[in-house]
Amino acid sequence: NTKRLLVDNDGDNEQIYSQAVDLLNDGEVVAFPTETVYGLGAVATDEKAVKKIFQAKGRPSDNPLIVHIGTIEEVSNYIEHISENALELMNVFWPGPLTIVMKAKSGILAPNVTAGLSTVGIRMPDHEVALRLLRKLKKPVAAPSANRSGKPSPTKAQHVEEDLQGKIPLILDGGTTGIGLESTVLDMTVTPPVILRPGGVTKEMLQEVIGEVIQPNKEQQKLDSTPKAPGMKYTHYAPNAPVLLIEKDQHTVSTAIAYLQKDGHKVALLAPINFSKLGSDYFFAFGQEEDKEQMGAKLYEDLRACDKTDATIILATTTSTEGVGAAIMNRLEKAAGGKWFRLSEI
Ligand code: TXA
Ligand code: MG
Repeated sequence: NTKRLLVDNDGDNEQIYSQAVDLLNDGEVVAFPTETVYGLGAVATDEKAVKKIFQAKGRPSDNPLIVHIGTIEEVSNYIEHISENALELMNVFWPGPLTIVMKAKSGILAPNVTAGLSTVGIRMPDHEVALRLLRKLKKPVAAPSANRSGKPSPTKAQHVEEDLQGKIPLILDGGTTGIGLESTVLDMTVTPPVILRPGGVTKEMLQEVIGEVIQPNKEQQKLDSTPKAPGMKYTHYAPNAPVLLIEKDQHTVSTAIAYLQKDGHKVALLAPINFSKLGSDYFFAFGQEEDKEQMGAKLYEDLRACDKTDATIILATTTSTEGVGAAIMNRLEKAAGGKWFRLSEI
């Protein structure tokens, strides 16, 4: 059975961290909070332990895992050559929501961590629980998001419990994660570097430090038949009812709600707080209009909350792709499978 232990309190919790470290050293998996989403960790040099991550999540084995570390010094244990730009990024953005993909030293990390690729993504999470665990363990931790494969990533320990109850021994409960969207994945093995997954560290922020960075748009991603971040090709972040994206316009949204309800649908609406009175059967607020941080922090929680309702369709309003908007729209597009509700089509 799965234990959930609270570390988000004033106690020193030393015993709880020891338990987590012992489990990891024994080849077990442990779920823990980061500043982005909860991760499901195993020691990254232990192939059998890493295999348990894939099993618990139901994750395809061709999808590599991110390696989490507690200090910048240890990166050189796993990486052939750290470029000046990569080092600069670590100094500026770590700890933080940036995963840097570099060429891996061969034979150090378990082969299933990198899914057979010659590169590895590394990041230092900006969360006191994650950092304390990593620094006490003194080993690299491979950790994908701690959800069942295909579900929205967990932003609360309770989400992990819902998805992985009985499949993992321990969840460290550090409360709600701050950012709510997974880290930016940046491929530093190519010039100029390419954003494989947009996240909290935006293209604009990266460019200020290392100059040109490529953020492929949707069309470019489609043209690229072999996705560089293998994870991005799978259905993701999807609640049970279908999600439709919709323009953030009150008239459009209220018309859509009436139209769908007439068709027999129960409609859940995910939108800014000022859209609450448009007649949807369920309403989940993304926060204030134009506050992208609030929107990112609430998105997965709201998508999961839809599964607790009898909504038959979910409408989610969109945002611009500026700043963190790129990450939000990337996840929304995936949750919706690219489907939109458009007034011109009814
Ligand atoms: O914020 C995060 O990154 C969270 C927390 C737990 O740290 N982790 C996370 O892991 O989102 P995961 O496994 O759900 O997503 C990792 C993404 C996938 O899209 C994967 O394909 C990509 O990173 N990735 C990992 N290693 C890679 C590599 N060597 N080359 C290209 N893409 C890689
Ligand atoms: Mg994931």
